[in-house]
Amino acid sequence: MKISYGKQSVNLDDIRSVVKVLKSDFLTTGPKILDFENKLKKFMGSKFCISVSNGTAALHLVGLVEKWNKDDLILTSPISFLASANCAIYNNAKIDFIDIDEDTYTLDIEKLEKKLKIKKNVKAVIAVDYAGHPCDWKKLKSLSVKYNFKLINDNCHAIGTKYFNRFDYAIKYADYVTHSYHPVKNITTGEGGAIFTNNKKSNDKLKILRSHGMLRNKNMIDYSLHEIGYNYRLTDIQCALGISQLTRLKFFVKKRRSIAKRYNNFFKKYNFVKIPMEKKFCTHSYHLYPLIINFGRLSIDKKKLISIFRKNNIFLQVHYFPIHLQPYYKKRFKFKVGDFRVAENFYKKEISLPIYPDLKQKDQSKIIGIFKKIFKKAQL
Ligand SMILES: Cc1ncc(COP(=O)(O)O)c(C=O)c1O
Repeated sequence: MKISYGKQSVNLDDIRSVVKVLKSDFLTTGPKILDFENKLKKFMGSKFCISVSNGTAALHLVGLVEKWNKDDLILTSPISFLASANCAIYNNAKIDFIDIDEDTYTLDIEKLEKKLKIKKNVKAVIAVDYAGHPCDWKKLKSLSVKYNFKLINDNCHAIGTKYFNRFDYAIKYADYVTHSYHPVKNITTGEGGAIFTNNKKSNDKLKILRSHGMLRNKNMIDYSLHEIGYNYRLTDIQCALGISQLTRLKFFVKKRRSIAKRYNNFFKKYNFVKIPMEKKFCTHSYHLYPLIINFGRLSIDKKKLISIFRKNNIFLQVHYFPIHLQPYYKKRFKFKVGDFRVAENFYKKEISLPIYPDLKQKDQSKIIGIFKKIFKKAQL
């Protein structure tokens, strides 16, 4: 059987919950939406939650509600999924990147402050809790106050992460928190996402924007349109799955952590690899297990290593190719090799190992076994 870097874990309870909705009156815009939002809100400790069709839609709408425009500069990490940067383009804003920290692979706070001192039009910083390790949110918050910009936590990887021992850390620091519930994430709704905020005005507007921008009149028949929105709604079917998944989130994170512990115990013996760091202030949720390999010390390169695993039906991944070096970003914004060196070096050395709750012990052993062979050859 094929082993990939991430995979959903769906059980009979999930299936029963979805089937129940399929037999009910509402497949969409029904009671499960509010139910899911209320449960998410409770877990995330936010005043408001707006479920949306995916994590990209969540980021798009945050820019829309914040009225980003061509004079605004949005900063994010080059080591993230494309959506963390694309959302600035959707909203006609300018985009720039901040290099990553060598240890946590999240935004380098010192480099961020350097940029904030020069650039006066920074409207928002989208900080990504990469792989499930939180950013230094206390410092980010103090910078957002000092330099007056909005703070967005692209929290897609970190559902179930703890910061200073709290699951509900994200909205304590960020103005908006966004989630994706894609199947590889820590919980899934198939496709799906959410926005969290404590601002009522933003909440009210986001709820209108996720459904075309339509404002229903009191009679619930007529509606009016004052601002263009989108169809970014989540369905009741998806919410039912989300509700069921959320009850197992802590268990999922526990399983991910036990796999990471096993990998750590094996890899820490080798001085040419670097295991993911877990700073004292957090509990990593290991959405990803990014391993850094000094390929100069091996007899094979990254491509070859990935192909050896493929031959064994194990599909490693790389998270991520730096966004600023994507052809679109290079061409349109003139980013070039060398702009963000830590991110670029990280990309050269990083591979993401399979990690998901249902990854079997024997498959973990198989993965470790292949590395053992490769490393043995390399050291000869
Ligand atoms: C960090 C990050 N941001 C945003 C997204 C976009 O989420 P979605 O795929 O649900 O649109 C993802 C999903 O891969 C992600 O990993």
